[in-house]
Amino acid sequence: MLAGKHILLIVGGGIAAFKSLDLVRRLREKGVQVTPVLTRAGAEFVTPLSLSALSATKIYQDLFDLTDEAEMGHIELSRAADLIVVAPATADLMAKMAGGHADDLASTLLLATDKGVLIAPSMNVRMWEHASTQRNLATLQGDGVLVVGPNEGDMACGEYGSGRMAEVPEIIAAIDAALGDGPLKGRHILVTSGPTHEPIDPVRYIANRSSGAQGTAIAKALAAMGADVTFVTGPADVPPPAGVNVVRIETAQEMLRAVEAAPPAEVAIFAAAVADWHVVNAGAQKIKKDGDTLPALELAENPDILATIAQKQEGRPPLVIGFAAETNDVVAHATAKRARKGCDWIVANDVSPETGIMGGQENAVTLITDDGAETWPRKSKDAVAQKLAQRIAEAVS
Ligand code: C5P
Repeated sequence: MLAGKHILLIVGGGIAAFKSLDLVRRLREKGVQVTPVLTRAGAEFVTPLSLSALSATKIYQDLFDLTDEAEMGHIELSRAADLIVVAPATADLMAKMAGGHADDLASTLLLATDKGVLIAPSMNVRMWEHASTQRNLATLQGDGVLVVGPNEGDMACGEYGSGRMAEVPEIIAAIDAALGDGPLKGRHILVTSGPTHEPIDPVRYIANRSSGAQGTAIAKALAAMGADVTFVTGPADVPPPAGVNVVRIETAQEMLRAVEAAPPAEVAIFAAAVADWHVVNAGAQKIKKDGDTLPALELAENPDILATIAQKQEGRPPLVIGFAAETNDVVAHATAKRARKGCDWIVANDVSPETGIMGGQENAVTLITDDGAETWPRKSKDAVAQKLAQRIAEAVS
């Protein structure tokens, strides 16, 4: 049901911009509120007046329009909608998005938003196939940006190939899917991810090799199923996905505080690789090497965040899921860990260096529940995340 939804539509500068006028009409027919944003190049293809007339609302063009800032700041504008749609998404807009630029209203909104983003690319076939565009596309998809099209066909420039913007009904179907009531709609799920950094002094820290890729993929898969995700992440290599509530922390103690401060969750997934120890006598200043004595680091154990939450007497999330990264006897160790920590499920994996899992793109996991151990075939971390999200959806339904 699209009626009552609000879409921020960014119209980029491409010949397909004329289709965006029809997109506005069709969306409004379905009861969707559309707020258009026209880029400078977009305004070369469609007029502000026609967009404004069709959407029956004010359109936005300039980042430095002070009247707009007084009425509605760009941050608010980026968050007021349920979804941001970029149609047409030009090669230049995609590059700006992938690079995190914020030098005009459209790119600033895209960087500032906490909502999902759907792009409908449109460009010449050579531009679409260019390595840089394909690289940007992969980056954007990795960031959780949804993509519809482009299609293959005759192009306005006379060439033939891939790069035609998706047709309006296709874009509407993609919007429908993006806004659809997923199986986890309205469920609050907490996910921890990434490593923690435990300071030795202001410039040095203890860390581990976790990239945060699996936790990020899980948060992305849950959000795609409609869950409200609180994503508590240490300093990871991969960026957090779009459409989740990101809480950034550095240390294990900060992670515990952030987890405890999060709204009550129905499911809590602890995918973070939390450091086991912190340095009690961390230097307030950079520790100097004097060529004589070696600094003696005094370590103390970090709080076990998973066990703390799993063993809570009050307010325990009904489904608590831990991870077990092991290098040998994976199932036996993980089964024991499940009992020790008091969690409901354990996702166990073998992180021996020869598996290439830690920091890699793939994962091979065994899910341990009350029903026993179930080994899944090795697959991409995204596919593992989707399967886990599916199992969670079944468990909470
Ligand atoms: O004890 P171990 O680190 O192997 O347990 C792994 C599981 O426990 C993971 O789910 C991890 O996120 C969680 N954990 C935690 N806090 C710690 C250590 C581990 O939440 N201090």
